[in-house]
Amino acid sequence: MPRLHVTGGNPLGGTVKISGAKNAAVAIIPAALLTEAPVRIENLPDIQDIQALVEILQYLGVKVVWETPTTLFIDASTLSKWQAPYELVKKLRASYYLIGALLGRFGRAYVPVPGGCDLGPRPIDQHIKGFVAMGANVEVEHGLIKVVANKLMGTEIYLDVVSVGATINIMLAAVRASGKTIIENAAKEPEIVDVANFLNAMGAKIRGAGTDVIKITGVQELGSATHCVIPDRIEAGTYMIAAAATMGNVAIQGVIPKHLEPITAKLREMGMAVDVADDQLHVVGTSNAQPVDIKTFPYPGFPTDMQSLAMVLLTQATGSSVITENVFEGRFKHVDELKRMGARIKVEGRTAIIDGRTRLSGAPVKATDLRAGAAFIIAGLIAEGETVISEVDHIYRGYENVCEKLTALGAVIKQIG
Ligand code: UD1
Repeated sequence: MPRLHVTGGNPLGGTVKISGAKNAAVAIIPAALLTEAPVRIENLPDIQDIQALVEILQYLGVKVVWETPTTLFIDASTLSKWQAPYELVKKLRASYYLIGALLGRFGRAYVPVPGGCDLGPRPIDQHIKGFVAMGANVEVEHGLIKVVANKLMGTEIYLDVVSVGATINIMLAAVRASGKTIIENAAKEPEIVDVANFLNAMGAKIRGAGTDVIKITGVQELGSATHCVIPDRIEAGTYMIAAAATMGNVAIQGVIPKHLEPITAKLREMGMAVDVADDQLHVVGTSNAQPVDIKTFPYPGFPTDMQSLAMVLLTQATGSSVITENVFEGRFKHVDELKRMGARIKVEGRTAIIDGRTRLSGAPVKATDLRAGAAFIIAGLIAEGETVISEVDHIYRGYENVCEKLTALGAVIKQIG
């Protein structure tokens, strides 16, 4: 099994270019199954989640061609199966989008219960509630979710929890349903807007994406489109925190600064300099970081995906900071590993209290999930000595060329094994 060896002590400096957004791309690729016409998706990140999805499409009988390293041509006119294979589906959480897409295309989808990061309980009851409200019958048997509809009918669906996955999945199923679907209490993440823009470019009629009420008028068929995926705000946020934590000086290019406002605001509150210009952010760290309190919330709140990364940074602030995790109740699995590196963190329920400033020391740690893995890289960059991160496949699921990008910024990081 490969491991990442990170040697701490170097402030990061230079420029890093951000890749396409994982959480948009993993929905846009299944969305392409809704049309019989060919589509082209640009600015895809080169990460394992995308490779797994492409393999799933090939298994389903879809023609897929990489025209450039980041541009994928998809022709789903040959799509011939509605059952996805367990071995591939288990690799990524977002395989649940195959349900909405196959249901919209065939009125039928058999998809194994998805894998992905273990962030505590991750039910998909709201997705299912939406499909059932639209007239589908849903059964879960032997780990397989079987969704069948004679005719999908538009309807009003109120989400009991604000869910990115349920919002997108219902949107996918509704695009070719009969009549109008209204999703209330919808999630507002930029990735949802990106998926809606792609669907609308293919001829869908979606209004309100990015607000908490999304209205979808079903259409009989979709056409062809070319779409460029938005930049990954979580990858960008990761490099912002890496720059701040190492007291570095980094320009982060190819971003949409508006999507990064919650992170920019917290870094400034801590005393970091963040300059914003067009599609670039410039972060300069400080040796006098101040403690702050962070509460994770759905967009535009502070992203739960940045929580473990922010926690590493807060170990470098002088004083006590409090993080409240409001989105995933089990998302503190990284804390024990950070404590082994010398961090002083106390967890009580959904709250973590971080006492800084702590000199971290390198240690062997296990990447407990994708973002926690990235957090351990940053911890390694500021720790004394060497940090060896195992189970790094989690990291490669979501970060393109992470070693190359960090090395170019002056980090000492290499994969062994
Ligand atoms: C997506 C992101 C993930 C991010 C999360 C929250 C993708 C592929 N993944 O995950 O990176 O951390 O949004 O921003 O885009 N819930 C239910 N029932 C449901 C669905 C969700 O109770 O049917 C709960 C979840 O357990 C969680 C909360 O709602 O507590 C939010 O989850 P959701 O927004 O659905 O997360 P994902 O779509 O899985």
